Amino acid sequence: MIFYFTGTGNSKHAAQMIAESENDTLYSITQAVRERKFTYNLDDEKAIGFVFPVYFGGLPSIVREFIENVRFENIKDKYVYLLLTCGGKTYDAGGMFAKRMAERGYQVDALYGVRMPDNYVPMFNPPTGEKAEALLAQAVKEIREIALSIQARKKGDMIAVKGMFPKAATALMYPFYDRTRKTKKFYATDACTGCGLCEKICPCGAIELKNGKPVWVKEICAQCFGCLHRCPVRAIQFGKGTDKRERYVNPYSEGLKI
Ligand SMILES: Cc1cc2nc3c(=O)[nH]c(=O)nc-3n(C[C@H](O)[C@H](O)[C@H](O)COP(=O)(O)O)c2cc1C
Repeated sequence: MIFYFTGTGNSKHAAQMIAESENDTLYSITQAVRERKFTYNLDDEKAIGFVFPVYFGGLPSIVREFIENVRFENIKDKYVYLLLTCGGKTYDAGGMFAKRMAERGYQVDALYGVRMPDNYVPMFNPPTGEKAEALLAQAVKEIREIALSIQARKKGDMIAVKGMFPKAATALMYPFYDRTRKTKKFYATDACTGCGLCEKICPCGAIELKNGKPVWVKEICAQCFGCLHRCPVRAIQFGKGTDKRERYVNPYSEGLKI
């Protein structure tokens, strides 16, 4: 059983690779939260995995909500692991996950992290073309090694991309996540065709089409930027500056719905 959350496909790509190596099944955290499905019996499971992106050195809000509500039955003696995807550094996101799981009574056995293209478009220009391909090729190599380590049921914190002073960095940075994950800066330009993809994929149900155009109907969202990156006509913008930036969607994540 592998739970994943993704905005632009990196984490789904990584989760798919681990699922293949483990012959395991993927479960969307977005779908679980939408359907309020929070009880899982692990009787027939050998291991339980989590794969999701690092946001502001910590956990995406939707992952937080999932952990706060989830109830695992028969988890005793099961190998529990986390694979974080990030654009640069995970900081203490792994530690935060382990702590929040421990608060719910679940022990985490192994922490992994991998760098993939950065999708934080308000600040960075996402890589495209050869640059994105090179980053993904390196990530694939590392995920294959992580898959072997998971197969061997290795235990411990094996994240090599935490950066300096990870705990302090997360303590400084993470509070900004909840302060900035407001939807008021999102808008759609006249290029919008009203296709409705953004409404369909938003993990928070924060977008509704009104008169054929997206309207952000919730004050806050997870800030995954799936709507912006995946808009087929680049109509979605966030504040000033994203119109000049590239868009990024992981090309290897299959069936990227939610
Ligand atoms: C709101 C937000 C915050 C982010 N914060 C970090 C961060 O603190 N450190 C980092 O290395 N990458 C950060 N990123 C980049 C993503 O973690 C990275 O691109 C990830 O692989 C995206 O996964 P996805 O394609 O599954 O959504 C952030 C991205 C977003 C959207």
